[in-house]
Amino acid sequence: MKTTGYATPAGRCEIHVNAPAAGFGSLAAGRKTAVVTDTTIRRLYPRLLAGRDVVALPPGERGKTLATVEALCAKFLKLGLDRSSFVVGIGGGVVCDIAGLAASVFMRGVPFGFVPTTLLAQADAAIGGKNGVNLDRYKNVVGLFNQPRFVLVDLDFLKTLPAREFRCGAAEIIKHASIASPSLFETLEKLPGEWASLKRRDLEAVVLRSIEIKAGIIEADEKEAGERRKLNFGHTLGHALERVGRFRHGEAVSVGMAMAAAISEARGLVSGQEVGRLKRLLGRAGLPVRPPSDPGPIVEAMRKDKKRRGRDVHFVLLSGLGRAEVREIPFRDLEEHVRDLCQHR
Ligand SMILES: NC(=O)c1ccc[n+]([C@@H]2O[C@H](COP(=O)([O-])OP(=O)(O)OC[C@H]3O[C@@H](n4cnc5c(N)ncnc54)[C@H](O)[C@@H]3O)[C@@H](O)[C@H]2O)c1
Repeated sequence: MKTTGYATPAGRCEIHVNAPAAGFGSLAAGRKTAVVTDTTIRRLYPRLLAGRDVVALPPGERGKTLATVEALCAKFLKLGLDRSSFVVGIGGGVVCDIAGLAASVFMRGVPFGFVPTTLLAQADAAIGGKNGVNLDRYKNVVGLFNQPRFVLVDLDFLKTLPAREFRCGAAEIIKHASIASPSLFETLEKLPGEWASLKRRDLEAVVLRSIEIKAGIIEADEKEAGERRKLNFGHTLGHALERVGRFRHGEAVSVGMAMAAAISEARGLVSGQEVGRLKRLLGRAGLPVRPPSDPGPIVEAMRKDKKRRGRDVHFVLLSGLGRAEVREIPFRDLEEHVRDLCQHR
């Protein structure tokens, strides 16, 4: 087990990597605890939840709404939670995002922790205190920054994770490498393509490194005034793709990264060879990289992207493999890039 973490003005978040999930009770410091999970985890891990006050949500992105947050708060009331209580989210990124928001608004905020159960949530979503839900299917439009007290990463959960979900997690890890760590990028290039069959030792090292990269960025910029924007690499287009297509989050981010890298090349920031390396790494992990043929729905969805300010978009570009920069790009230019990429895919 390795312990790491990060500190923000609001306090410290302890992150335990490769630690048994059953330890969440003691991390909740003896407080009355409600567990928020989904029905998949409840079915697969009954012993972990035995004897606990559990609220199990239907799995999936569709439930990531304010209505679910409201229903969850009503359950908290029924369970007798008050401000001295604790909420633990056990699940993927969807559960963590919903549980973090519900805990943050219930009685103006009760402390919470996460036990992420997907690779994506372990390496990314559970870290950093962005809690939010979708509105009218626009991603994460309602939310707040509030840090979990702890994140407990138990890699054993990954034994039951479907291969497609594994690949989605790979996308966010590749994102962290692409924006901040040439050495992690090279390490990932040397791993076998099929992430679901990675050796435990490799998986632990990669997840830990991914968490450390994100933690470092959050310490520098908790509320996304500058540096943290880099974590949105692939997400401006990814969120639009996720809204309009059949993609899971990680898959949409993968296509979004491939497109953002191509836009970086078009603007003279990276070479075609570097873009090729990124696409190969994503492709080897079984992730999609090809933009759809019709740019119309993506452009429309991008218009609603919350990161858009006036006529410009804060867009994350690569300036090397392991280096990113954020530029304000006129929306019209971005639209042109997207149309071009969809036409020449
Ligand atoms: N807050 C953040 O900083 C942040 C960062 C990245 C992504 N996200 C959000 O995370 C969400 C995506 O998260 P996700 O990819 O974890 O998806 P998810 O939470 O929908 O989980 C994917 C599926 O895997 C199942 N599952 C979870 N753990 C399992 C296990 N151990 N074994 C078998 N099945 C399991 C779930 O029930 C679900 O059906 C998106 O909504 C995205 O916006 C948030």
